[in-house]
Amino acid sequence: MANAFIKDLNKHLDQTVTVKGWVHNLRSSGKISFLQIRDGTGFCQAIVNQPTVKPEVWEEAKKISLETSVILTAKVSKHPKKEEYELQVEDLKIVQAALDYPIGKKEHGPDFLLDHRHLWLRAPKQWAIQRIRNTITLATYEWMDQHNFLKIDSPILTPAACEGTTTLFEVPYFDLGKAYLSQSGQLYLEAAIFAHGRCYDFGPVFRAEKSKTRRHLTEFWMMDAEAAFVEHDENIKIQEELISFIVQKVLEKNKNELTILERDTKPLENVKPPFYRITLAQAAEKLRAMGADTKDGEDLGGEEETLLSKSFDKPVFVEKYPAKIKAFYMKRDPENSDLVLCADLLAPEGFGEIIGGSQREENIDVLLERLKEHNLPREAFEWYLDLRKYGSVPHSGFGFGLERLVAWICNLEHVRESIPFPRMIYRMTP
Ligand code: 4AD
Ligand code: MG
Repeated sequence: MANAFIKDLNKHLDQTVTVKGWVHNLRSSGKISFLQIRDGTGFCQAIVNQPTVKPEVWEEAKKISLETSVILTAKVSKHPKKEEYELQVEDLKIVQAALDYPIGKKEHGPDFLLDHRHLWLRAPKQWAIQRIRNTITLATYEWMDQHNFLKIDSPILTPAACEGTTTLFEVPYFDLGKAYLSQSGQLYLEAAIFAHGRCYDFGPVFRAEKSKTRRHLTEFWMMDAEAAFVEHDENIKIQEELISFIVQKVLEKNKNELTILERDTKPLENVKPPFYRITLAQAAEKLRAMGADTKDGEDLGGEEETLLSKSFDKPVFVEKYPAKIKAFYMKRDPENSDLVLCADLLAPEGFGEIIGGSQREENIDVLLERLKEHNLPREAFEWYLDLRKYGSVPHSGFGFGLERLVAWICNLEHVRESIPFPRMIYRMTP
């Protein structure tokens, strides 16, 4: 008997196949039992019809409860009205009969579901989210590879801060004192571009974020990209091309998942270059016109990001922040030295920041001043300063937060559902 995956049932019409999976829902009416089967690749209905199966098979079917693992031998048929394939069960084996599965049909609160995250991952919406996350990751690798970016794996244990000292996680480190969990691999990619021209990394980063918002996790996945001889405008072009490619890939590969999530795909279809570009000063003006009380020269708050990003039908770059509220490595704007050549990319529909990027300061003297202004210890950055001594070049880069991208593309209220096991201030289990 051929083993079949649910996603391939259309290739086995009228054949008898073996399907291995779990019963994620069931209902029975007299002599017929309807099992909803999940095998990892998809969901389908299996029908056990008492008059047509052996008595032992019917007895076995009666023992099935939610999340019981099963091996079915069944004939593949097509749903009379829908483009769906069903299994007409001939034989059935229980692998393990599940005991009182705690996630039922009734509504559960978010805390209950998060406490049961190890089981909640099986729910169709959660299944769909992780599949889309996978597409985003693979699409990123594909685009970066096609555009001459080499993957370089940055370290996680690091001797210094990359993104400000207030969100650093400390770890005791033998006789050397303290190590910090990486907030972004950017500084290491800046070293690697002198060998490889264009580089990226993609891995977990850590922020001891005190903020308890729908956009913040303490452990999340970042893709940092860095490119030699690329300046601010080209950096922006790279980002809009990459993000558009990712969104189009999800639309192409995850139709079923987007349907399960009831995602309106119209706004996603619109995600094509060029994106909008405004300065922070223009953003502040626009926000005030919408009734917010935004001050000039201040970072946007969560509410402001929501409001602003709702007013655009495509992602929008907010450029040129004051140097004093941004990281030490950002290059000053030659037109106004109070500002830096940076851009945050905000996703539309109220989602807000998904990317932070900038041109980097390539001059060693300027960089030394910046370290002082930011109270950062020169010793820890000597190696980084070396990059400005041996063939320094203009260069730029950016980093996206994978969970922010997933939350936007899947239209999730909170980033916690976009990562398999979320870590937040008040949660690090399961
Ligand atoms: O804007 P950030 O802090 O930029 C950097 O770390 C740069 N070093 C990146 C670079 O240029 N290579 O973080 C980048 C992105 C944000 O735009 C956001 O999407 C995500 O990472 N992010 C978070 N996601 C979830 N939880 C948090 N606490 C996050 N902090 C940042
Ligand atoms: Mg940022």
